[in-house]
Amino acid sequence: MFLAQNIMKKKIKAVINGIGGYVPEAILDNEELSRMVDTSDEWIMSRIGIKTRHVLGERRGSAYMGIKAVQDLIDKTSLDTKDVDLLICCTTTPSFVFPSNASLICGALGITSAYGYDLAAACSGFIFGLDTCATMIESGKYKKIILVCSEKMTAITNYEDRNTCPLFGDGAAAVLIEPTTEDVGVVDSILRIDGLGKENLHLKAGGSLHPASIETVTNKEHYIYQEGQAVFKRAVSDMAGVAEEIMIKNALTSDDIAWLVPHQANIRIIEAVAKRMSLPREKTLINIEHYGNTSAASIPLCLWDYESRLRKGDILVLAAFGAGFSWGSVLLKWGYDIEHSKKM
Ligand code: UT7
Repeated sequence: MFLAQNIMKKKIKAVINGIGGYVPEAILDNEELSRMVDTSDEWIMSRIGIKTRHVLGERRGSAYMGIKAVQDLIDKTSLDTKDVDLLICCTTTPSFVFPSNASLICGALGITSAYGYDLAAACSGFIFGLDTCATMIESGKYKKIILVCSEKMTAITNYEDRNTCPLFGDGAAAVLIEPTTEDVGVVDSILRIDGLGKENLHLKAGGSLHPASIETVTNKEHYIYQEGQAVFKRAVSDMAGVAEEIMIKNALTSDDIAWLVPHQANIRIIEAVAKRMSLPREKTLINIEHYGNTSAASIPLCLWDYESRLRKGDILVLAAFGAGFSWGSVLLKWGYDIEHSKKM
């Protein structure tokens, strides 16, 4: 009986034990954008909340940033790459259709005892990937998983379209996920996908339905197509709805929550989600002003920036919304403290 209770108490959970990140040096600010299309710093700041975005530039793909972010994670955690048994890369802008970013990252960093694959869930990539990794850790089969999110959104952004070009930026972040029997780690998740967003948010060509042709290139069909208002409405209602749902499901009040970590697509969406959860701005992690929307990378980049402010045991609610539509929320208890501050 005592043994059975002890075993039950020691249920394996998945905890984030480190985070690395990378953003390219080059910056595109609102002033420069205003010279490219008919827009202004005032419009972008008031309607979206973005000041600058990092831009990778030509001749490098998202795998490059993924390698940099994982290298940062390895350096910070002293991780032995031989111990990694799984690497998942969340991206909708992989360097190639194949081979996967995961295989390129493993190859570049000498991760030789793992398998891996890419996970394409647009802006919901990190939370979908975190749930997948948590389930794999909880199974007992995997001990060290790297979840890396890397997006070169500028590669699919049309810099002649003022409706979309202020929104996106490039970046990557990676987390180390390990088993724990402590009272920390991934607690719960609510994840959804409905397929109803295809008309509102998609990339017309480049997939197997419309492979690249002179016509698709001429028609600029390899860039993000977005009907902003329709996406905005669903993002507010579904991100806020699912964040509230996970609070209610886990009997949490706003006082219990240390941090909301929302996908960084629009400051007005972030504020609406925080409001629905009755959370003050001080409890909301925001870095959209510096990076713009980095799709799957936005939540882990936020954790990377604010790592020094997170305390062991802090309750975090992550929430995202993106193409598909796809959306969801993950509840987690932060697993460690760090002494030094990185930059924010
Ligand atoms: O991460 C994936 C999910 N994506 C999102 O969550 C994005 C959700 N959508 C949004 O964030 C917002 O809809 C946008 C930021 C994309 C657009 O903001 P909005 O407040 O919905 O603007 P709008 O599209 O309704 O456009 C309002 C006006 C229009 O002019 P008129 O027709 O009223 O004369 C646009 O032409 O603003 C104009 N406009 C601009 N003006 C200056 C659109 N883009 C710009 C611009 N600069 N860059």
